[in-house]
Amino acid sequence: MARLALVTGGTRGIGEAICLALRKEGYRVIANYGGNDEAAKAFSDRTGIETRKFDVSNYAEVEQGIAAIVQEHGPIDILVNNAGITRDTTIHKMTPEQWQAVIDTNLTSCFNLSRCVINTMRERGFGRIVNIGSINGQAGQYGQVNYAAAKSGIHGFTKALAQEGAAKGITVNAIAPGYIATDMVRAVPANVLEKIVARIPVGRLGEAEEIARGVVFLVADEAGFITGSTLSINGGQHMY
Ligand code: CAA
Repeated sequence: MARLALVTGGTRGIGEAICLALRKEGYRVIANYGGNDEAAKAFSDRTGIETRKFDVSNYAEVEQGIAAIVQEHGPIDILVNNAGITRDTTIHKMTPEQWQAVIDTNLTSCFNLSRCVINTMRERGFGRIVNIGSINGQAGQYGQVNYAAAKSGIHGFTKALAQEGAAKGITVNAIAPGYIATDMVRAVPANVLEKIVARIPVGRLGEAEEIARGVVFLVADEAGFITGSTLSINGGQHMY
């Protein structure tokens, strides 16, 4: 049977493109989402891909959500930790809630999901985990101490878990997207975004499909020697 992939935040933006690209490669795909029922319904109507609603920042919900998937479809071979939010503001205006929401949804989620799939991956001697980091976790970004800290944490998490998984056939890699044409980036004030795009050597925002291409590469059975790496896909904006 085809390998089973779970993509968090899979019904919109980069997550949607990842789901579609994985399905095109012949994987069985399930898209998790957190809150937007309308977008999730439109996504499954459009694509036929099954969706599962649970809050990735909540361990108990994740545990329950994964158990239900495994019961119905069998063990998860491929996990893409993609779900993420922004609460952009400078630190002197940032509330503890804005800090915590971003840390919980973007970083703690990687622990929650990985923790709930790792034992079956270890038992079966195969797993692929791809964590979606960010250029802003590598380089920092004005107005994003919460997001940059969480995404930077993802890069450390990736390297540590890669070491733990290596002997068990589990690879763990990160992708660090630059500015991609999604709702998240479109929410950046136009005058600010214009200045950012001017600093991208390729001269444009990236497309979600250009991130998905990296995921497909990293999760392949043939990619077993690639682990602990970060693939930067950012149009040349930051070379790390
Ligand atoms: N470096 C230095 N100074 C900056 C700056 C920067 N990058 N950006 C803004 N400033 C300065 C402005 O020039 C301005 O200074 P003056 O008052 O002296 O003119 C001051 O900071 C205030 O700027 P704003 O008017 O923009 O302030 P604001 O409070 O309305 O908004 C902000 C601040 C929310 C941080 C806003 O600038 C913003 O949204 N910036 C974009 C942040 C960003 O890039 N987010 C990425 C989202 S996409 C994503 O996260 C995906 C991914 O992984 C790439």
